[in-house]
Amino acid sequence: MTHATPRPDTLPTIRPNHFDPPPRLLHWARQTPIRLLTYADGHQGWLATDPAVIRAILTHPHFSNRPEHLHLPVDPYSTQRRRQHRPGFFLQADPPEHTRYRRRLIGHFTVRRMKALRPRIEAITTSHLDAMCHHGPPADLVPAYALPIPSLVICELLGVPYTDRARFQRDSRTLLSLASTPQQADAALDDLTAYLRDLTHHKHTHPADDLITDMTRDADLTHEEITNISVLLLVAGHETTANMIALGTFALLANPAQLATVRDDPAATHTAVEELLRYLTIVHLGPVRAATRDTDIDGHHITAGQCVTLALAAANRDPRHLPDPDTLDVTRPPTGHLAFGHGIHQCLGQHLARTELAVAYPALLRRLPTLRLAVPPRSIPIRAHTAIYGVDHLPVTWEGTTG
Ligand code: HEM
Repeated sequence: MTHATPRPDTLPTIRPNHFDPPPRLLHWARQTPIRLLTYADGHQGWLATDPAVIRAILTHPHFSNRPEHLHLPVDPYSTQRRRQHRPGFFLQADPPEHTRYRRRLIGHFTVRRMKALRPRIEAITTSHLDAMCHHGPPADLVPAYALPIPSLVICELLGVPYTDRARFQRDSRTLLSLASTPQQADAALDDLTAYLRDLTHHKHTHPADDLITDMTRDADLTHEEITNISVLLLVAGHETTANMIALGTFALLANPAQLATVRDDPAATHTAVEELLRYLTIVHLGPVRAATRDTDIDGHHITAGQCVTLALAAANRDPRHLPDPDTLDVTRPPTGHLAFGHGIHQCLGQHLARTELAVAYPALLRRLPTLRLAVPPRSIPIRAHTAIYGVDHLPVTWEGTTG
């Protein structure tokens, strides 16, 4: 009688207490830096949890992020069409193609550019606080504050009319949710692409002071490339930060002493933003990379074609690299977390996200010093079944305001 070799486990995704990574993931991370993993489509790949191993893979020339090479750990669908290479969608391109796009865009997202943008971000934040105070208490922090601030900022940067937000917010959410059927996800991507294709056409005849117009002036970029770059920037530019604002506020409400520090000590804003990014690591199902050649990593032989899932959330809780990693300490000196990834694809919008968070948390907590959850924490709906972790709703209430 022969015994079949048991298949390696699949990726755990549920964070039982809202904030901490899945316990099984942390348990594995403490056993070995990299292990075998069964992917949703049956692919036998790998899972890396150690920060040094993750950095090594994200900077290794034998690992690709092109969609046609990738298997995903938890998305069983990945229809052929969604796996197609899309010119301009540079998150899923390798050098030298990736370099060509990234070089053109980097200047629009520098620290200096974001400093110049800060007064506008503050004004947008204040106007949303005014509206929240006018209509509440109570309020749902997601539609009232967390989602509109980054949406409006990325719209203004790109030159996307904010009045069209219902359409692109719905499409982005469908695209990122693992609960969407392949047909729904394809339809959402098609709709978003059609919308930005039309808008790009419009910018040719109605130029404005925005990034899409800027790209239309670049003779080296095709219409299709500009469209797909815009799809990437619009989706990445609002979903992520929106979830960080809402989930970060939730985490602070659950840790009142930490909340008080963020509210009362302006000097703690910088460390608080970095700590919340580390502690929550909202990109919780990847990234994933595929080996293009046989490669040895940390003593393990990865065969060409095999994928590695890089568990950023586990790496950011590694006790060998950080004392007491499961504690939220907003005064912790930043130690170089992986919440924005690493290597050539490291988040292009990280300075924008940091600026938005550095404005949004203190402004909210100072204006509403008695802010608290309006429902028991257990009843807050969590979005675990999506590429970007977070909350869909955050009912809050307060007494009195300072402004
Ligand atoms: C890439 C996280 C906000 C644009 C990434 C990656 C991560 C990440 C982990 C790397 C993915 C990979 O290696 O496969 C986050 C988080 C954010 C955030 C946690 C908010 C707190 C933003 C914003 C923008 C943005 C506001 C606005 C433009 C991008 C783009 C890429 C990227 C364009 C692809 C970069 C490349 O391939 O060169 N982000 N992001 N992100 N992010 Fe962000």
